[in-house]
Amino acid sequence: MIEIRVTADLRRQIRTWKTAGDSIVLVPTLGNLHAGHLALVQAARTHGHRVVVSIFVNPTQFVAGEDYEQYPRTLEADLEHLEHYAVDLVYCPGVSDIYPDPTSPGTEVSVPALDGIFCGASRPGHFTGVATVVTRLFNLVQPDKAVFGEKDYQQLLLIRKLVHDLHFPIEIIAHPTVREADGLALSSRNQYLDESQRQAAPTLYQTLCSIRDRILSGEGDYGALERYGRQRLEEAGFRVDYVSIAAAGDLGEPRDDDCVVLAAASLGRARLIDNLRVGG
Ligand code: PAF
Repeated sequence: MIEIRVTADLRRQIRTWKTAGDSIVLVPTLGNLHAGHLALVQAARTHGHRVVVSIFVNPTQFVAGEDYEQYPRTLEADLEHLEHYAVDLVYCPGVSDIYPDPTSPGTEVSVPALDGIFCGASRPGHFTGVATVVTRLFNLVQPDKAVFGEKDYQQLLLIRKLVHDLHFPIEIIAHPTVREADGLALSSRNQYLDESQRQAAPTLYQTLCSIRDRILSGEGDYGALERYGRQRLEEAGFRVDYVSIAAAGDLGEPRDDDCVVLAAASLGRARLIDNLRVGG
Protein backbone atom coordinates (compact mmCIF):
# COMPACT_ATOMS: atom_id res chain seq x y z
CA MET A 1 0.00 0.00 0.00
CA ILE A 2 1.45 3.31 -1.10
CA GLU A 3 0.87 6.30 1.15
CA ILE A 4 0.98 9.66 -0.63
CA ARG A 5 0.66 13.19 0.76
CA VAL A 6 2.13 15.26 -2.09
CA THR A 7 0.04 16.05 -5.18
CA ALA A 8 2.92 15.63 -7.66
CA ASP A 9 3.56 12.10 -6.33
CA LEU A 10 -0.11 11.28 -6.65
CA ARG A 11 -0.24 12.48 -10.25
CA ARG A 12 2.87 10.46 -11.13
CA GLN A 13 1.43 7.25 -9.66
CA ILE A 14 -1.96 7.75 -11.31
CA ARG A 15 -0.27 8.36 -14.66
CA THR A 16 1.72 5.13 -14.31
CA TRP A 17 -1.43 3.12 -13.64
CA LYS A 18 -3.41 4.78 -16.44
CA THR A 19 -0.58 4.12 -18.89
CA ALA A 20 -0.64 0.46 -17.88
CA GLY A 21 -4.40 0.38 -18.58
CA ASP A 22 -5.42 -0.09 -14.95
CA SER A 23 -8.82 1.22 -13.88
CA ILE A 24 -8.99 3.25 -10.67
CA VAL A 25 -11.70 3.17 -8.01
CA LEU A 26 -11.77 5.97 -5.45
CA VAL A 27 -13.24 5.82 -1.95
CA PRO A 28 -13.24 9.37 -0.54
CA THR A 29 -13.36 9.59 3.28
CA LEU A 30 -12.89 11.98 6.15
CA GLY A 31 -10.86 9.27 7.91
CA ASN A 32 -11.64 7.83 11.36
CA LEU A 33 -12.51 4.67 9.47
CA HIS A 34 -15.11 2.24 10.78
CA ALA A 35 -16.74 -0.89 9.39
CA GLY A 36 -18.99 1.26 7.17
CA HIS A 37 -16.00 2.76 5.36
CA LEU A 38 -14.27 -0.61 5.16
CA ALA A 39 -17.34 -2.06 3.45
CA LEU A 40 -16.99 0.68 0.81
CA VAL A 41 -13.33 -0.23 0.38
CA GLN A 42 -14.18 -3.91 0.04
CA ALA A 43 -16.81 -3.07 -2.58
CA ALA A 44 -14.29 -0.88 -4.44
CA ARG A 45 -11.95 -3.87 -4.71
CA THR A 46 -14.52 -5.67 -6.87
CA HIS A 47 -14.95 -2.73 -9.28
CA GLY A 48 -11.49 -2.08 -10.72
CA HIS A 49 -7.78 -2.78 -10.76
CA ARG A 50 -6.55 -0.11 -8.34
CA VAL A 51 -8.24 1.07 -5.16
CA VAL A 52 -7.43 4.57 -3.90
CA VAL A 53 -8.73 5.75 -0.51
CA SER A 54 -8.51 9.45 0.29
CA ILE A 55 -8.38 10.61 3.89
CA PHE A 56 -9.02 14.30 4.26
CA VAL A 57 -10.96 16.18 6.94
CA ASN A 58 -12.38 18.78 4.60
CA PRO A 59 -12.73 22.13 6.40
CA THR A 60 -15.13 23.64 3.86
CA GLN A 61 -17.93 21.18 4.57
CA PHE A 62 -18.04 21.99 8.28
CA VAL A 63 -20.34 24.88 9.08
CA ALA A 64 -19.30 27.52 11.65
CA GLY A 65 -19.75 26.11 15.16
CA GLU A 66 -19.55 22.48 14.00
CA ASP A 67 -16.99 19.89 15.06
CA TYR A 68 -14.18 20.52 12.50
CA GLU A 69 -11.52 21.00 15.20
CA GLN A 70 -12.76 18.07 17.31
CA TYR A 71 -13.44 15.72 14.39
CA PRO A 72 -11.55 12.52 15.25
CA ARG A 73 -8.27 12.28 13.33
CA THR A 74 -6.91 8.74 13.59
CA LEU A 75 -4.55 8.44 10.63
CA GLU A 76 -2.25 5.75 12.09
CA ALA A 77 -5.17 3.47 12.99
CA ASP A 78 -6.83 4.18 9.62
CA LEU A 79 -3.68 3.14 7.74
CA GLU A 80 -3.47 -0.02 9.79
CA HIS A 81 -7.07 -0.94 8.91
CA LEU A 82 -6.50 -0.28 5.23
CA GLU A 83 -3.43 -2.57 5.16
CA HIS A 84 -5.87 -5.49 5.60
CA TYR A 85 -8.05 -4.47 2.63
CA ALA A 86 -5.65 -4.69 -0.31
CA VAL A 87 -5.79 -0.93 -0.88
CA ASP A 88 -3.27 0.23 -3.48
CA LEU A 89 -2.91 3.85 -2.48
CA VAL A 90 -3.95 6.06 0.42
CA TYR A 91 -3.98 9.75 -0.42
CA CYS A 92 -3.71 11.93 2.72
CA PRO A 93 -3.37 15.52 1.52
CA GLY A 94 -3.00 18.53 3.77
CA VAL A 95 -5.42 21.46 3.55
CA SER A 96 -3.03 23.44 1.33
CA ASP A 97 -2.80 20.55 -1.16
CA ILE A 98 -6.54 20.66 -1.75
CA TYR A 99 -7.00 24.41 -1.27
CA PRO A 100 -3.75 25.93 -2.60
CA ASP A 101 -4.84 29.56 -2.16
CA PRO A 102 -4.49 30.25 1.59
CA THR A 103 -6.23 33.64 1.37
CA SER A 104 -9.56 32.50 -0.06
CA PRO A 105 -11.56 29.31 -0.51
CA GLY A 106 -11.00 29.67 -4.27
CA THR A 107 -13.22 28.07 -6.88
CA GLU A 108 -16.35 26.48 -5.49
CA VAL A 109 -18.79 23.96 -6.92
CA SER A 110 -22.42 24.08 -5.94
CA VAL A 111 -25.42 21.99 -6.90
CA PRO A 112 -28.32 24.39 -6.32
CA ALA A 113 -31.04 21.81 -6.92
CA LEU A 114 -29.95 19.87 -3.86
CA ASP A 115 -27.77 21.98 -1.62
CA GLY A 116 -30.40 24.15 0.10
CA ILE A 117 -32.85 21.48 1.29
CA PHE A 118 -32.90 19.03 4.20
CA CYS A 119 -29.35 18.85 5.62
CA GLY A 120 -28.37 21.73 3.33
CA ALA A 121 -31.03 23.97 4.90
CA SER A 122 -29.74 23.43 8.42
CA ARG A 123 -26.05 23.32 7.42
CA PRO A 124 -25.75 26.20 4.91
CA GLY A 125 -22.66 25.80 2.77
CA HIS A 126 -22.08 22.18 3.78
CA PHE A 127 -22.93 20.69 0.40
CA THR A 128 -20.96 23.30 -1.51
CA GLY A 129 -18.00 22.19 0.62
CA VAL A 130 -18.70 18.55 -0.23
CA ALA A 131 -19.21 19.22 -3.97
CA THR A 132 -16.05 21.33 -4.08
CA VAL A 133 -13.80 18.82 -2.36
CA VAL A 134 -15.18 15.85 -4.29
CA THR A 135 -14.64 17.72 -7.57
CA ARG A 136 -11.05 18.48 -6.57
CA LEU A 137 -10.46 14.86 -5.53
CA PHE A 138 -11.93 13.62 -8.82
CA ASN A 139 -9.58 15.94 -10.75
CA LEU A 140 -6.57 14.83 -8.73
CA VAL A 141 -7.21 11.08 -8.64
CA GLN A 142 -9.03 10.80 -12.00
CA PRO A 143 -10.90 7.67 -10.99
CA ASP A 144 -13.01 5.58 -13.34
CA LYS A 145 -15.42 4.85 -10.49
CA ALA A 146 -16.04 6.18 -7.00
CA VAL A 147 -17.91 4.56 -4.12
CA PHE A 148 -20.21 6.45 -1.72
CA GLY A 149 -22.45 5.20 1.09
CA GLU A 150 -26.24 5.38 0.86
CA LYS A 151 -26.35 6.55 4.46
CA ASP A 152 -25.55 10.05 3.16
CA TYR A 153 -28.39 9.85 0.67
CA GLN A 154 -28.59 13.57 -0.14
CA GLN A 155 -24.82 13.64 -0.65
CA LEU A 156 -25.04 10.63 -2.97
CA LEU A 157 -27.67 12.32 -5.17
CA LEU A 158 -25.69 15.56 -5.16
CA ILE A 159 -22.54 13.78 -6.34
CA ARG A 160 -24.42 11.89 -9.04
CA LYS A 161 -25.79 15.23 -10.25
CA LEU A 162 -22.41 16.99 -10.27
CA VAL A 163 -20.84 14.07 -12.17
CA HIS A 164 -23.65 14.30 -14.71
CA ASP A 165 -23.63 18.11 -15.01
CA LEU A 166 -19.83 18.49 -15.14
CA HIS A 167 -19.39 15.55 -17.55
CA PHE A 168 -17.03 13.61 -15.31
CA PRO A 169 -16.41 10.21 -16.93
CA ILE A 170 -16.84 8.56 -13.54
CA GLU A 171 -19.30 5.88 -12.49
CA ILE A 172 -20.74 6.47 -9.03
CA ILE A 173 -21.32 3.29 -7.07
CA ALA A 174 -23.75 3.44 -4.15
CA HIS A 175 -23.13 1.12 -1.22
CA PRO A 176 -25.92 0.13 1.19
CA THR A 177 -25.83 1.58 4.71
CA VAL A 178 -23.95 -0.58 7.19
CA ARG A 179 -25.72 -0.91 10.54
CA GLU A 180 -25.08 -2.10 14.07
CA ALA A 181 -27.10 -5.18 15.15
CA ASP A 182 -29.75 -2.86 16.64
CA GLY A 183 -30.14 -0.92 13.38
CA LEU A 184 -28.10 2.20 14.18
CA ALA A 185 -26.30 3.31 11.01
CA LEU A 186 -22.52 3.35 11.45
CA SER A 187 -21.11 6.87 11.67
CA SER A 188 -17.99 8.45 13.10
CA ARG A 189 -20.27 10.72 15.11
CA ASN A 190 -21.77 7.74 17.00
CA GLN A 191 -18.75 7.94 19.27
CA TYR A 192 -20.09 11.24 20.65
CA LEU A 193 -23.05 9.33 22.17
CA ASP A 194 -22.97 8.58 25.90
CA GLU A 195 -24.43 5.32 27.18
CA SER A 196 -28.05 6.41 27.51
CA GLN A 197 -27.96 8.29 24.18
CA ARG A 198 -26.53 5.17 22.55
CA GLN A 199 -29.50 3.20 23.88
CA ALA A 200 -31.94 5.73 22.45
CA ALA A 201 -30.15 6.07 19.08
CA PRO A 202 -31.70 3.02 17.29
CA THR A 203 -35.10 4.74 17.62
CA LEU A 204 -34.06 6.72 14.54
CA TYR A 205 -33.89 3.60 12.37
CA GLN A 206 -36.96 2.07 14.03
CA THR A 207 -38.95 5.21 13.27
CA LEU A 208 -37.91 5.15 9.61
CA CYS A 209 -38.84 1.44 9.40
CA SER A 210 -42.21 2.11 10.91
CA ILE A 211 -42.94 4.97 8.47
CA ARG A 212 -41.83 2.80 5.55
CA ASP A 213 -44.07 -0.06 6.71
CA ARG A 214 -47.04 2.25 7.10
CA ILE A 215 -46.53 3.62 3.57
CA LEU A 216 -46.24 0.09 2.21
CA SER A 217 -49.46 -0.88 3.97
CA GLY A 218 -51.29 1.91 2.16
CA GLU A 219 -51.14 5.01 4.40
CA GLY A 220 -51.02 7.99 2.08
CA ASP A 221 -51.06 11.00 4.41
CA TYR A 222 -47.33 11.73 4.32
CA GLY A 223 -47.67 14.87 6.43
CA ALA A 224 -49.23 12.83 9.23
CA LEU A 225 -46.48 10.20 8.95
CA GLU A 226 -43.80 12.88 9.14
CA ARG A 227 -45.44 14.36 12.24
CA TYR A 228 -45.65 10.89 13.79
CA GLY A 229 -41.91 10.37 13.13
CA ARG A 230 -40.98 13.71 14.64
CA GLN A 231 -43.04 13.04 17.76
CA ARG A 232 -41.64 9.54 18.25
CA LEU A 233 -38.08 10.85 18.03
CA GLU A 234 -38.77 13.75 20.37
CA GLU A 235 -40.25 11.33 22.91
CA ALA A 236 -36.99 9.34 22.73
CA GLY A 237 -35.01 12.50 23.55
CA PHE A 238 -33.91 13.62 20.05
CA ARG A 239 -33.80 17.23 18.88
CA VAL A 240 -35.33 16.74 15.46
CA ASP A 241 -34.12 18.63 12.41
CA TYR A 242 -36.45 16.94 9.90
CA VAL A 243 -38.36 13.75 9.17
CA SER A 244 -39.44 13.79 5.54
CA ILE A 245 -40.76 11.62 2.78
CA ALA A 246 -39.37 12.69 -0.60
CA ALA A 247 -38.98 11.47 -4.17
CA ALA A 248 -36.04 9.06 -4.26
CA GLY A 249 -34.67 10.48 -7.52
CA ASP A 250 -34.36 14.18 -6.66
CA LEU A 251 -35.74 14.68 -3.12
CA GLY A 252 -38.68 16.67 -4.50
CA GLU A 253 -42.34 16.05 -3.68
CA PRO A 254 -43.06 12.31 -3.86
CA ARG A 255 -44.72 11.66 -7.22
CA ASP A 256 -45.01 7.87 -7.20
CA ASP A 257 -44.10 4.82 -5.12
CA ASP A 258 -40.36 5.43 -5.46
CA CYS A 259 -39.66 7.51 -2.40
CA VAL A 260 -37.25 7.75 0.49
CA VAL A 261 -37.86 8.49 4.15
CA LEU A 262 -35.12 10.76 5.49
CA ALA A 263 -34.39 12.04 8.98
CA ALA A 264 -31.78 14.08 10.80
CA ALA A 265 -31.89 14.44 14.56
CA SER A 266 -29.43 15.06 17.37
CA LEU A 267 -28.78 13.35 20.66
CA GLY A 268 -26.44 15.49 22.73
CA ARG A 269 -23.65 16.63 20.41
CA ALA A 270 -24.17 13.78 17.94
CA ARG A 271 -26.14 14.80 14.85
CA LEU A 272 -27.40 11.56 13.29
CA ILE A 273 -28.84 11.09 9.82
CA ASP A 274 -30.46 8.07 8.26
CA ASN A 275 -32.81 7.14 5.43
CA LEU A 276 -34.78 4.24 3.99
CA ARG A 277 -35.96 3.71 0.43
CA VAL A 278 -39.60 2.72 0.13
CA GLY A 279 -40.44 1.65 -3.43
CA GLY A 280 -38.05 1.64 -6.33
O1 PAF B 1 -19.00 11.42 3.21
C1 PAF B 1 -17.88 11.85 3.53
O2 PAF B 1 -17.13 11.21 4.27
C2 PAF B 1 -17.45 13.20 3.01
O3 PAF B 1 -18.53 14.07 2.87
C3 PAF B 1 -16.64 13.12 1.70
C4 PAF B 1 -17.48 12.53 0.58
C5 PAF B 1 -15.40 12.27 1.91
C6 PAF B 1 -16.20 14.51 1.26
O4 PAF B 1 -15.34 15.09 2.19
